[in-house]
Amino acid sequence: MNRYLTLRCEVPLELAETAAFFLHEEGAAGVEVLDDEIRPPPGAPKLPEGKARVTGYFGAETDPEAIRARLEALVPGAVVGWEILDEEPWADCWKLHFRPVQVRDSFWVVPPWEKAPEGTATVVIEPGMAFGTGNHETTALCLDFAADLVRPGTSVLDLGCGSGILGIAAARLGAGRVLMLDNDPVAVEIARKNAVANGFPELEASGVPVEELDETFDLVLANILAVTLIELASAVVRCVRPGGSVILSGITVDQAAEVRAVYETLGLAFREERRRGEWSALHLERAR
Ligand SMILES: C[S@@+](CC[C@H](N)C(=O)[O-])C[C@H]1O[C@@H](n2cnc3c(N)ncnc32)[C@H](O)[C@@H]1O
Repeated sequence: MNRYLTLRCEVPLELAETAAFFLHEEGAAGVEVLDDEIRPPPGAPKLPEGKARVTGYFGAETDPEAIRARLEALVPGAVVGWEILDEEPWADCWKLHFRPVQVRDSFWVVPPWEKAPEGTATVVIEPGMAFGTGNHETTALCLDFAADLVRPGTSVLDLGCGSGILGIAAARLGAGRVLMLDNDPVAVEIARKNAVANGFPELEASGVPVEELDETFDLVLANILAVTLIELASAVVRCVRPGGSVILSGITVDQAAEVRAVYETLGLAFREERRRGEWSALHLERAR
């Protein structure tokens, strides 16, 4: 039986999404958030008022102390603990937290064990191995923008593709060429499998660094942390064709101005900011 590292932290409610996002970025195969909206499973200790419990599931070889130190620095007041567990106890219970997500009238994103309403278009994503089920605000913001910007034939770069959800959604909306990139080889593999499972075997998934890409796209969807979006800004802008758009997500509301300024300095024109909870996504355009 596989062994897993379970890293659990109790954080102020308002920082739960930040902690969850961080654990994904650290390579968690799955992340569970228990807050005041989700009832703890039977037997689980009750949450103190104003706190959320965020649990990340990692391969047993992961160094928990290093993650604990970075998490405590990022989320003041986090109380972090960890243990090694067998696969079975968590494999099924975390499915409770993935719900079907409707993207406008365009389509639904569902896990394989759920059904979208009869007669609607779907994107099926198996949660767990890579970030991107549609349940996270940063993904939902990108899906919302994609519903407005993808037209038949639009070429799309899904940068930081995780499960491939954005690339596959773009294909479902009628996109032409779709390239999904991730620096995590597991995500690349999962994105490829999800594309095939959704009937889009032609979608390309690759681990090529975006800095080495020599191609432009009508639309770049980039849901990565703010710090990475800033680091990669020149390379990202180079991938947007003249007149094309980029959606930058994975940014908290208070980071949005800084990210926007970096991309404006590189010549992009700001179009729109959309928000969900504490998360912002920015739409910028490259001049023709
Ligand atoms: C927040 S997840 C987004 C997943 C999915 N696109 C979504 O919207 O739900 C960010 C992804 O970016 C990837 N990533 C982080 N840094 C990257 C980089 N420099 N180049 C490519 N991918 C990167 C991570 O491995 C992770 O899969």
